[in-house]
Amino acid sequence: MAEFSSRHLLGIRGLTRSDIDAVFETAREFKDVINRPIKKVPSLRDLTVANLFFENSTRTRLSFELAEKRLSADVVNFSAASSSVKKGETLADTVNNILAMKVDMVVMRHPHPGAPHYLAEKIGVPIINAGDGTHEHPTQALLDSFTLTERLGSLEGKKVCIFGDIRHSRVALSNVLCLQLLGAEVMVCGPATLIPKHFGSLGVQVGHDVDAALAWCDVANVLRIQLERQGTEVPYFPSLEEYHARFGITRERLDRLEHRPVILHPGPMNRGVEIASDVADGEDAVILDQVENGVAVRMAVLYLLAGRLGGSED
Ligand code: CP
Repeated sequence: MAEFSSRHLLGIRGLTRSDIDAVFETAREFKDVINRPIKKVPSLRDLTVANLFFENSTRTRLSFELAEKRLSADVVNFSAASSSVKKGETLADTVNNILAMKVDMVVMRHPHPGAPHYLAEKIGVPIINAGDGTHEHPTQALLDSFTLTERLGSLEGKKVCIFGDIRHSRVALSNVLCLQLLGAEVMVCGPATLIPKHFGSLGVQVGHDVDAALAWCDVANVLRIQLERQGTEVPYFPSLEEYHARFGITRERLDRLEHRPVILHPGPMNRGVEIASDVADGEDAVILDQVENGVAVRMAVLYLLAGRLGGSED
């Protein structure tokens, strides 16, 4: 039976190749389950999972909730916007109050990098990081790579370029770490202002020429321009129109290539900015497969962590 080496899923950093293989093997089984007429299994019956979202989400929140329900868990949802956080309650107090209601696992999205790691030291139940600020988004990286293995088979030696706003992304770091564990070569490409210098030390190539990067890669993972995080007087690029012209993934650019890269986007998309609509909706895009696979991959993570409940501390 597939096993997971850690009690929590705080990031891809800290996972092993066999952890990822365990998630993929289990996700393949759950993907069969969710495509059956009866989509539920009793694996998490009698367990309660709390989804704590201190930051907005559409895909991740719904995907986790669906994954938990497909596994027959009881689910409680918390949204910071309508909570006592607004009255000044601390993160530890908020979570300890929720745990006092006998919750067995926590899924948390938080705007501050490291918030789930902090919580993991304070509370006694498994925590799954559903995105911490600009740091990591491990289940997104797992579902991205899982989707790629369905299209391409092994990722060993495959060339994956992550395009766009690397600076404000949590998907970028998790993807780099996950892809490297799976043996892929990784490049990041975008305006110099949107690629932090430390990415150069991760063993990835850094590029600023979209056409050259597209010619190099088997896979283009296109990231959202995160305008809401770009709270600066000095803009990172002159305008959205200029960004699209210089860095947008467009049909014209793809038609000039001799090969057809697989196109990913974690969502939400800014159509007409980082990606053209006809590319997002084209036959090389696997964007809705990513969303479908998100449920199976999150079921796998929940199942594997639940299998360790009552086990040793890591
Ligand atoms: N991909 C992703 O994290 O989307 P949400 O912000 O909608 O959860």
